[in-house]
Amino acid sequence: MSELTNVLQPEHPILPQLAQRRSPRAYTAQPVPAEALNQLFVAAGSAASCFGEQPWRYLVGNKEAHPEAFAKILSALGEYNQVWVQHAPVLAVSLAKTTFSHDGNPNRYALHDVGQATATLAVQAVELGLQIHQMAGFSQDAVRTSFSIPAEYEIAAVFTIGYPGALDQLPDALRERELAPRVRKPLTEYVFEGGWPQLSTERYDQAPV
Ligand SMILES: Cc1cc2nc3c(=O)[nH]c(=O)nc-3n(C[C@H](O)[C@H](O)[C@H](O)COP(=O)(O)O)c2cc1C
Repeated sequence: MSELTNVLQPEHPILPQLAQRRSPRAYTAQPVPAEALNQLFVAAGSAASCFGEQPWRYLVGNKEAHPEAFAKILSALGEYNQVWVQHAPVLAVSLAKTTFSHDGNPNRYALHDVGQATATLAVQAVELGLQIHQMAGFSQDAVRTSFSIPAEYEIAAVFTIGYPGALDQLPDALRERELAPRVRKPLTEYVFEGGWPQLSTERYDQAPV
C-alpha cells in the first residue's frame, strides 16, 4: 500500500501537500529525527496570530527520547485511540496560552491560532514524508494533572507524528476506515459569496435527517 493512499480529489487544484495530508492510524516504527521535529515545530511557529502573541505551546512525547512522556500522553487517550496510537513514534499535545502577554486580558483567538499553527505543521509534515493525526478523544484532566499544566493554558488536542505504515497492522474496522475515500463538502455548502444564504435556499445543515 502506497503512502499516497487516499489522496483527496479536490474540486479545484490545490497544493499537493494539502491533498496528500491525511490522518493515518498506521505508522512504521521508524523514529522521527530530531531535525525533522524541529522543522515541524518551526513550521507551526510560522503561523499568524492575534497581536503576534504566538499562544501555541507543544508538549512532545518522543517514544525514543522521552518514553515516560509518551506513556503519559498515551494513557490519557480513549482506548479506541490507544489501540493504534501506541505504535506511533511521537505523541504531542497542543496547548493555548489563554491570556495576552502585553496586557493580561483574555485572548479569545488563542485556540484559533493554535489550530492554524498545527495545520501549518501538518502541511510541513507531508513535505517531510510524515503525517500527523489529531485527536479530541483524550482526558483533558489526565493530561493536565500528569504534566502539571497551569490553569492559564488550555489543552487543544493530542496528535501523533510518524511515517505512514502498512495497513495490515490495523484491526479490520480501522483498516476499512483508512481505505474509505476521503470526501469533502462542495464549496457551495460552506462558501457564501455576497451574503448569508436565505432560509428558502436548500442547505445541508437544515435538511431533515
Ligand atoms: C480536533 C480534532 C479531533 C479529532 N479527534 C479524533 C479522535 O479522537 N480519533 C480519531 O481517530 N480521529 C480524530 N480526528 C481525525 C478526524 O477524524 C479526521 O481529521 C477527519 O476524519 C478527516 O480525515 P483526514 O484528516 O484524513 O482528512 C480528529 C481531528 C481533529 C482535527
